[in-house]
Amino acid sequence: MQRPYVIDEMISAKTIAARVEELCREIHDEFNGTDKLIVVGLLRGSFVFIADLVRELDLPVEVDFLEASSYGDGMESSREVRILKDLRGAIEGRDVLVVEDIVDTGFTLSHVIGLLKSRGPARMKSIALLDKPTRREVPIKADWTGFEILDEFVVGYGIDYAQRNRNLGFIGKVRFTD
Ligand code: PRP
Repeated sequence: MQRPYVIDEMISAKTIAARVEELCREIHDEFNGTDKLIVVGLLRGSFVFIADLVRELDLPVEVDFLEASSYGDGMESSREVRILKDLRGAIEGRDVLVVEDIVDTGFTLSHVIGLLKSRGPARMKSIALLDKPTRREVPIKADWTGFEILDEFVVGYGIDYAQRNRNLGFIGKVRFTD
């Protein structure tokens, strides 16, 4: 049975929207003039963020998705990342922006970037809405980060707790009440 909990708002929908606008201005400066940009969302957590990003980004874009799953065999240091769903299209010679909801240990983003780089894109950048730098086990940082946070248990704006709460418009902190 699941422990009872409440969700305390941590980053409001308005604050997220303002940050998405700022980030899109920087992304626009980076990719301005290209007509070969593919924005790649990592499922499932990035689906809300990528939807807001591509609608705010005033550039011609294609959108594709990739699903990766990281798991351990009991030891934190032996993480493996499996690709559960690959991209539909080729990225060779293309400009690629990888969109992640949160970077925690860094295993997922690091693996995905390594994999996609091996396919020969012209340029590859990454963006994460949230970053927990104190949790990092692999030395990687997204090119753009929405918010750096402490090691909190967060949900909302695409991020789940036991597959629920992805549909919240804000980022909240889970607080157990038992
Ligand atoms: C979460 C999150 C990132 C990853 C970050 O995905 O969405 O993809 O973990 O963790 P890491 O930096 O330690 O690798 P999860 O496997 O929970 O899947 P989801 O996106 O479907 O919720």
